[in-house]
Amino acid sequence: MSVPELYPGPWTIRREATSLNVEHPIIAGPMAGCLDPPFRMVLHRLGCPLSFTEMISARAVFEGTGRTRRLFSWVPDQGWSGAQIFGSDPAYLAHAASEMEKAGHHMIDLNAGCPKRKVCRTGAGSSLLKDPGNLMKCIGSILDAVKAPVGIKMRMGVHHLEEHSLKDLVSDLQSIGLSYIAMHPRTMVQQYSGKVDRELISRLGGWIDIPLIASGDVRSSDDVRDYLERGATAVMVARGHLGDPTWTARTLNALGSEARDDRFPETKAQLLHHLSLMKEHLGFSLDWYGEKRGIVEFRPHFGWYIRKFGGRREYRQKVYSLTTREEALMLADGVFHDWSRTLAG
Ligand SMILES: Cc1cc2nc3c(=O)[nH]c(=O)nc-3n(C[C@H](O)[C@H](O)[C@H](O)COP(=O)(O)O)c2cc1C
Repeated sequence: MSVPELYPGPWTIRREATSLNVEHPIIAGPMAGCLDPPFRMVLHRLGCPLSFTEMISARAVFEGTGRTRRLFSWVPDQGWSGAQIFGSDPAYLAHAASEMEKAGHHMIDLNAGCPKRKVCRTGAGSSLLKDPGNLMKCIGSILDAVKAPVGIKMRMGVHHLEEHSLKDLVSDLQSIGLSYIAMHPRTMVQQYSGKVDRELISRLGGWIDIPLIASGDVRSSDDVRDYLERGATAVMVARGHLGDPTWTARTLNALGSEARDDRFPETKAQLLHHLSLMKEHLGFSLDWYGEKRGIVEFRPHFGWYIRKFGGRREYRQKVYSLTTREEALMLADGVFHDWSRTLAG
């Protein structure tokens, strides 16, 4: 398939009079503990047209903790923002959705994919799939509470794929007014292990008319191409963005050409750019959280930025003892100096 066939231009998330035109088919998937406002700022600046908040507990929104409010208080001034909420109580979810809409987020996403025990034992996350009746009530109450488009991010099942039940569920979700379905085609019990069931995406596309967003193991332009060829409207990238915020721009470029996108950075110029983005991200983190907490929040990102470097292990310990901006900048310069010696001009 050629690029215009694969990706014919913006795609749209609709609900009644609202149409959100999303420029291209690569978006940033939610990642608790990683996709915080500073990282979302970097991704949006580098061409991600839509990203999601980390998952936000509907109950915590109701209880009104300052920490939770901070999770959803940033909305990008360019591009679209999805606020992802989790819970299993329709009333809490309705309240949280309304707060997200008031905060300015453009769409609400219900988490029906998180496999973590802490979340699932409350009936939330992918546990919602065990009780489709309650899941429909949750979506119904969110739809009643907001005017914004509402979508779901889900797994394909709990223990295994039950195709008939899934087909019924997605048809019901579409018929009550859901605006998109984001599918991570693994089961709850698989967590992140095993292969994603890409074949399911091919069939799912035939069951619904609303946008289908595919999530799971997207690491290269070939993965994007494969999902789009199978009928996904867009792909959601999560781990591929960690420490690599230019991933989307490079991958879009590679979709339309013979450009290789498997090795990065390959040149000193690319490495320097990578370093400057890391410093920009660090700056956003310090501005957003304040220096003390900003450094702590940035430590894992620092590790991801340098993970492609052979000396990562040697640096890991240093990363986790960073306490000031100056220490972080010095370490970054040292790492990148060593790294650049391994690269061509
Ligand atoms: C550290 C981490 C945190 C995640 N947090 C969330 C989350 O808050 N909400 C959600 O729907 N999915 C979450 N996910 C799942 C991802 O959005 C995505 O569906 C999954 O990682 C597969 O995509 P990938 O292979 O591109 O990472 C998380 C994944 C990771 C690795």
